[in-house]
Amino acid sequence: MYEDINHSGDGGLYAELLQNRAFQGQTPGTTAALYAWHALGSTKIAVVNNTAPVSAALPNSLQVTVPSSGPAGFTNEGYWGIGVTEGVTYNASFYAKLAANSSFTANDTLTVQLLSASGENLAEEHVQGLSESWQQFSVRLLAQKTPESAANSFAVTLNGNGKSGQVVYFTLLSLFPPTWNDRPNGLRKDIVQALTDAKPSFFRFPGGNNLEGETIPEFWNWTKTVGPLVDRPGRFGDWTYWNTDGLGLMEYLLFCEDLGMELIMGIYAGYSILGGTVPEADLQPYIDLAISQIEFVMGDAKTNQWAALRAKYGHPEPFKLEYVEIGNEDLYRTAPQSYLAYRWAAFANAISAKYPQLKLISTTNYGAALNPTPKYVDIHHYERPSYFINRYGMYDNRTLYPPTVQIFEGEYAVIRNNAVDTRLEFPTLEGAVAEATFMAGMEKNSDLVFAAAYAPVLQHINSTQWAPDLIGFDAYNIIKSVSYWVQHMFSVNRGDTILSVRSTAKVNPVYWVASKTNTTAFVKLTNVLNSTTTLGFNFPDLDIGPNASATVLTHSDYSIMNTPSSPNTVVPKEVPFAAGKTFAFDIPGQSVVVLKLSI
Ligand code: AHR
Repeated sequence: MYEDINHSGDGGLYAELLQNRAFQGQTPGTTAALYAWHALGSTKIAVVNNTAPVSAALPNSLQVTVPSSGPAGFTNEGYWGIGVTEGVTYNASFYAKLAANSSFTANDTLTVQLLSASGENLAEEHVQGLSESWQQFSVRLLAQKTPESAANSFAVTLNGNGKSGQVVYFTLLSLFPPTWNDRPNGLRKDIVQALTDAKPSFFRFPGGNNLEGETIPEFWNWTKTVGPLVDRPGRFGDWTYWNTDGLGLMEYLLFCEDLGMELIMGIYAGYSILGGTVPEADLQPYIDLAISQIEFVMGDAKTNQWAALRAKYGHPEPFKLEYVEIGNEDLYRTAPQSYLAYRWAAFANAISAKYPQLKLISTTNYGAALNPTPKYVDIHHYERPSYFINRYGMYDNRTLYPPTVQIFEGEYAVIRNNAVDTRLEFPTLEGAVAEATFMAGMEKNSDLVFAAAYAPVLQHINSTQWAPDLIGFDAYNIIKSVSYWVQHMFSVNRGDTILSVRSTAKVNPVYWVASKTNTTAFVKLTNVLNSTTTLGFNFPDLDIGPNASATVLTHSDYSIMNTPSSPNTVVPKEVPFAAGKTFAFDIPGQSVVVLKLSI
């Protein structure tokens, strides 16, 4: 599951390198409004809204006043640094204008630079053409060096000689590295690469709590996340920081298209996390908005105004949309009362009436008395290792579930170890083995559990609101957690048919699931104790060839984590072995093992 939490969007997946690029949501005149920005020398900088703005959506700008001596300019520190790599070209842009009656002219030069922590010039370009109207300036900055540290900055300087007290305004300053598939306003390549390596089959977005807003006016409203960046106001997200919404609905859709992921798209369902609930009588505009969101995604651009907007923004063809999730976690706090009373029904009935083919996912438990009865239910588990291990068989007993229901394990993760209440900083091997055990149970029952996702997926290690997470990152690095490797092992080794297993060995300490394609059989195993268990395998109905491999994730220390200082302590190892219709295999203690067998 993806949402902007832990700066996983702004400062993460969204490749923009400048923080607080348009001063969105900031109170003019305050020091806080200047976060991530610094004046050079004695230059005065302030966030203001007293000059005609670049757009209604972006009322604030940076007022830069030239000092009487020394450098005139300002810098941005990025999101806990800026990754600058030698030989890479960065696209920088900004809007600027002069104050009225300025002594600057169009012939004055602005210098745009990338600077190292020590002030070394890493890249430099120049622009001219300032006027009293907002204009966008763009330069391409070719980095000459990869500095040791990430404490680099983006700088804009003016030649202030003889211009003391003169004012220039700036806003929507931006710096992009090359992006995934070279998309403008695109995504950070190394993060997308880590995700793509794990072959995700769907993407649930935009939350999570971050769909809901803390209060009703702050909910994720798709209409404010599309179109030119100057027209996107952003919003205060649910995870303590402002979302630029540069990573908006269209960017999510293109990301899914690029990676071949199905959409599981959340729509705001009239409940916000601090308890704000839209009364039934006021719900219609929110239903209309949900329908317009659906139409933007999958409508016919020739006949539908929202789909036509999508075409205008560069994607005439509809995106494929099958699953729509109505709200998020409507089983907590005061949410269930209104979800049960009217919210689910109002959204589900309205959407089904127009788009009966859509599969609507509810966010209460499968037993909840909703009308219409949901066919798809999203449930979440943030628990201890023992909880997940004990629920290996959770989906085996079909009498516990309504016969028509299909389950989406939309968020799950081990967040604490068995004995201690402190949250884990990063996933541990013990947690990952437990998750794998639960996943084996889900895979056995994948006719009932139609999708499952670890959550949350991404974490900027310098700004964490929720731990543990699947993938950590900073300005330069990616940290693939032990849980990431479990997701990877399960995902890249997928059968299309689940095999029935008869066993003389009892489950515990070893747990398993077996599957196959036409050419390959897979046996996924976990061993939750710290000693090796040897299992004999016999495939009476399959001609298993001799060439086989085992991917093994294990370590002698069950509490081990992959951390920023030690990112590769636990990684899976693939070893060849000789298989056949019968063979024995040692399942190491504290391990996840995938046997890949040729048929
Ligand atoms: O994944 C973090 C949060 O956990 C999600 O936003 C929410 O759905 C759940 O409570």
